[in-house]
Amino acid sequence: MENLVMLPGPTNVSDRVMNAMLTRMINHRSDDFRALYKSIIEKTQMVFQTMNDIVVLSSSGTGAVEASVVNLIRRKDKVVIPVNGEFGTRLADLIDSWGGETIRVNSPYGQNPDYSEFEEAFDKNKDIKALYAVYNETSTGTTLRYLDKLSQLCSERGVFFVVDAVSILGGDELPVDKWNVDICVTTSQKALAAPPGVSPISISARAKKYMLENPPPTQYFNLKRYFKYFEANFETPFTPALPLFNAYNEALALVLEEGLDKRIERHKACAEAFYAGLSSMGFSPFARDNARSNLVIAVNYRQGMNDKTFRDLLSQQFRVLVAGGFGNLKGKVFRIGSMGEVNKYHVMRTLSSIASVMNILGLEVNSEYNSIALKRLHGIV
Ligand SMILES: Cc1ncc(COP(=O)(O)O)c(C=O)c1O
Repeated sequence: MENLVMLPGPTNVSDRVMNAMLTRMINHRSDDFRALYKSIIEKTQMVFQTMNDIVVLSSSGTGAVEASVVNLIRRKDKVVIPVNGEFGTRLADLIDSWGGETIRVNSPYGQNPDYSEFEEAFDKNKDIKALYAVYNETSTGTTLRYLDKLSQLCSERGVFFVVDAVSILGGDELPVDKWNVDICVTTSQKALAAPPGVSPISISARAKKYMLENPPPTQYFNLKRYFKYFEANFETPFTPALPLFNAYNEALALVLEEGLDKRIERHKACAEAFYAGLSSMGFSPFARDNARSNLVIAVNYRQGMNDKTFRDLLSQQFRVLVAGGFGNLKGKVFRIGSMGEVNKYHVMRTLSSIASVMNILGLEVNSEYNSIALKRLHGIV
């Protein structure tokens, strides 16, 4: 029996996308590959809503995040970065370990800092090179809801604006050109609903200029090499993960067939159904109202519930996979990836399976969760 993969990545992948991986190998230095890569780049630009250069790495999201650091940050460069979870912390630590100097705008997990704290950080520190932000903090289900204002701040101060959109791009608003994002990073296995292993990055003209003039002393994630090979031949410098490129290409086609606006609306409706349904079962959302993610639903366990027992029952008896918490949140929250293919079926099957597990555990569940969630899914197939 098939699993319902309600993880914050990897997520459910359609048969059409899976089948695209079964094509035969081609020469990655041939017209066949050039046609595939061109098609991927054009579609990626549409999904990112950008005319910027695109590089597609054969790596998971971490590789693309690392590329955004090693190609832009040099020793003693000052970087402002909000930190309110595992992925913000990882990114800030990476920047520091690479020789940059982070100015961390911390906030409690589940909350975003006040926007004014960024203005203060910029006023207090001169010569800031870049602002890096994790748009959707996957570890806590928290979305930075004022990315557009941060973009404006960066434009006014002449600072590079870099966004880790790994767990959100394709499922919520992110018009890269409108928001002047210099480097935008995502990955295949989340809202784009492809298998893991492909990570696209968009790079603005001014970030590209910097990268061409200051290439890093690394090989695989050296973006100058990618620009060179693309401009000369529409190729990648190193052997691309061909089956995954085919799958990613098909996944992009599905995104564009649905249309970005409709896709974002669907994610919003499914998230609202999850929050409403789970709340009526007695699970309170972890993130504050104004910071709640439409892609990662993190809720607090009810009193006395055991993470392992709950998630084991859910996966073994109902084949529904959800994630636990990270670090301090381990055992305290569980997280549902409501992304990619997510629709009414996924939401209602997940909720009813959770209700059944609660029943097995002898915990009361208000049966109204069903109609409460369904109402939010009105119009969603
Ligand atoms: C916000 C964010 N950044 C980076 C990563 C790392 O991505 P990957 O696990 O694909 O390397 C993740 C993974 O969940 C993430 O959620």
